[in-house]
Amino acid sequence: MSVVSIAQERRNMDQDQLKRAAAKAAIDDVVPGELVGVGSGSTVNFFIDELGAIRDRIAGAVSSSERSSDRLRSNGIEVLDLNTVVAAGRRVPVYVDGADEINPRLQMIKGGGGALTREKIVAAASEKFVCIVDASKQVEVLGRFPLPVEVVPMACELVAMRLRALGGTPVQRTGFVTDNGNLILDVAGLSITDPVATESVINQWPGVVTVGLFAQSAADLVLVASASGVLRIERRQ
Ligand code: A5P
Repeated sequence: MSVVSIAQERRNMDQDQLKRAAAKAAIDDVVPGELVGVGSGSTVNFFIDELGAIRDRIAGAVSSSERSSDRLRSNGIEVLDLNTVVAAGRRVPVYVDGADEINPRLQMIKGGGGALTREKIVAAASEKFVCIVDASKQVEVLGRFPLPVEVVPMACELVAMRLRALGGTPVQRTGFVTDNGNLILDVAGLSITDPVATESVINQWPGVVTVGLFAQSAADLVLVASASGVLRIERRQ
């Protein structure tokens, strides 16, 4: 193994330790006896494993992706269908998920793992969004991470054309189909200074299923893990 790849592996290990620390801290926000909304991604995978250790103290989970559902079940946690939960009037007090970027207003870019649509749905069905990140995800202005946009396949070129007109450079994610059977455009080059406006503009285009901006509904709490510990930042109302 080269010196460069050894250094990269060490950075990944360090980052994994931070992700695990944020995930572990989120267990304090889980409400005993209630359902938990569960996001997707590598940070959430650590959270699911932590949740496995307290599975007897929760009523089950509502999941945002097939991958998270599989991991939840392999940790002995029941995964409930969201429609059944909502129809029964059951609460989902907390939704825990990672982010690709988060700004000081706790607005996020999500969808690096392609689960953005179900993530937005489960987040909307939950009372409180707890975002778990390592400090590398904190930014002043969203947009350095390419913005994922889930699109209906036949609208891919039309939406890409409109994204170019906004100043972005969309690239179709290679060999990737979402859990909903759609495609993802990853849009580089956007400096998103007004995330609420950008979210609502892109949302309205025919063919767009979901834009990976979580700005109109930001996180309520972020747990940021760094070398000095896990910082809790509540959203200012
Ligand atoms: C999944 O679709 C994403 O929204 C993830 O929540 C986000 O990409 C963060 O993932 P990591 O925890 O793997 O960085």
